[in-house]
This record gives sequence, C-alpha cells and structure tokens, in this order.
Amino acid sequence: MPVLGLGVWQMAAGGETEQAVEWALEAGYRHIDTASVYRNEQSVGAALKRSSLPREQVFVTTKLLPTHLSAARELEKSLSRLGLDYVDLYLIHWPLPLVTARLWRQLESLQERRLARAIGVSNFGRGRLDALKRGTSRMPAVNQVQFSPFHYRRRLLDYCLEQAIVFEAYSPLDRGQGLQDPTITAVAERLGRTPAQIMLRWAIQHQAVVIPKSSQQQRIRSNSQLFDFELADTDMRILDALDRTNGTARARR
Ligand SMILES: NC(=O)c1ccc[n+]([C@@H]2O[C@H](COP(=O)([O-])OP(=O)(O)OC[C@H]3O[C@@H](n4cnc5c(N)ncnc54)[C@H](OP(=O)(O)O)[C@@H]3O)[C@@H](O)[C@H]2O)c1
Repeated sequence: MPVLGLGVWQMAAGGETEQAVEWALEAGYRHIDTASVYRNEQSVGAALKRSSLPREQVFVTTKLLPTHLSAARELEKSLSRLGLDYVDLYLIHWPLPLVTARLWRQLESLQERRLARAIGVSNFGRGRLDALKRGTSRMPAVNQVQFSPFHYRRRLLDYCLEQAIVFEAYSPLDRGQGLQDPTITAVAERLGRTPAQIMLRWAIQHQAVVIPKSSQQQRIRSNSQLFDFELADTDMRILDALDRTNGTARARR
C-alpha cells in the first residue's frame, strides 16, 4: 500500500475530481482514496482510465456506507462506477452498532472472491476493533482514522501497529486548518518546507499512511515531496505536543 495517496472527499464529480486525479498520477501518486458517499467514483475511474497506467500500479480504495446491508451489491456498484474489476482496499466507512460484524463477514467473502484485495475499517476505536477481533476470524488490514498533530491518537496508533493493522491518516492536514498554526509554520520555515509537508512527514514518521486532499496542481505536487527530508526527534516531540484530542490544549512550544 503506497504510504501517500490522494484523498478526494469534497471534490465535485466531473472536472474537479478528474483533473486532480490526473495531476496526482502525473506527480507520482499511485494511491487514490474515494468512497461511495463522495459521489465521485466515476470521475476517479475516468481519470484512471485516461492515464493508461497498468491497473496493478495504482492502489484504489473505496468505502462501504454501513447503512447498506448488502456489501456485495454496493461493491459491485462501486466497481461499475470506477470501471474496475477489483479494488485494492474496501473499507467499512464507519462503525454501526449491531451491523458491523455482519458486514465484516460479507467483506471477508468479497475478499475471497478477489473483488477486494484487502479489507478494512474506518473510524474504529480500540473497543470496536477488539469487538471485531472477538466476533470474526480476520482482523482488518487497515484502520483509516483522523490523525494529525492536532489529533494525535497515540494509544490507537500503538494498538493498530501492535495488531499489524495499517494505520491510515485521514484529514492529515487538519482539513487545512492546521497549516497556519504558528508551531507548524515555525518548523516549516526553519526547514525550508511547506507547513503541509511538515504535517504529512510527521504522520509518516509515526508509520501512518497519509491521504491529503487537494484540488490544486501545485499543492498536489508539493504534498508529494516528502521523501527527501526527515523531522528530527525534537521536532517530532514539538508536533506531538499540539495534540488536542484529550480536550486540554497543551502548552505550545
Ligand atoms: N474515512 C473517513 O471518514 C474520512 C473522513 C474525512 C476524510 N477522509 C479522507 O481523507 C482525505 C483527506 O482528508 P480531508 O479532505 O478531510 O482533509 P486534509 O487532507 O487534511 O485537508 C484538505 C484541505 O487542505 C487544503 N490543502 C491541501 N494541501 C494544501 C497545501 N499544500 N497548502 C494549503 N492548503 C492545502 C485543501 O484545499 P485545496 O483543495 O484548495 O488545496 C483542503 O481544503 C479525504 O479527501 C478523504 O479521502 C476520510
């Protein structure tokens, strides 16, 4: 699974999504994250087709809306919109009490049929992952959750890594809001990088897969330039301290 992907939530179907995916593929992204609920799978598929890249070179994720009770029917619809024979990763978009275990068993059978090469979940905390572990035979390959220096979910991250579940960071730029934070901008200026690169690099160094969204070509490009520098331990700790998930904003250093 490529450690960097393009997220396409809130991109309009049609030109905006097609263009962004095309720019991302040109910039070297080989991983696209969509969902049935984003209503742009068809545009992702159109851009993939136009790129002429071999299917096996692009990792495509889509997600099942858990209120639909037939995962097979929903995946078939997603595949038809994407114009693909299989997805690389199929996720349950969020946990829904009472139906998750049943949906998960359906996903297992979709994986056995090779319609989804890997299966996983999104927005699952440790309790829900544990419940899945007790009730089913296979653990999710991936858990996609909100993760950025402002949502540093250390215990969930550690749990996923211990259980060999890939930890995938959504909203890794804090939906664009984190980019003006003075701590982030100070580190960025000191290292001659963009604030987005600093936030993405922080997540990658915590072993997360990142899927930033941008519809702008220059940002799509610069968000992918993450592999020629490293954050020092001291900078990692400074960014770790921005966490506000426990409800108490810690002192900014
Ligand atoms: N599983 C889930 O429940 C779930 C929930 C949320 C998101 N996701 C996935 O995660 C992906 C990313 O999360 P997200 O879309 O919430 O937010 P994000 O990637 O954290 O931030 C996107 C925002 O940052 C801006 N941006 C991107 N690069 C920038 C840069 N270099 N400089 C300045 N601004 C920049 C974008 O604006 P422009 O487009 O104008 O550049 C957009 O407003 C989604 O697209 C989706 O695929 C999954």
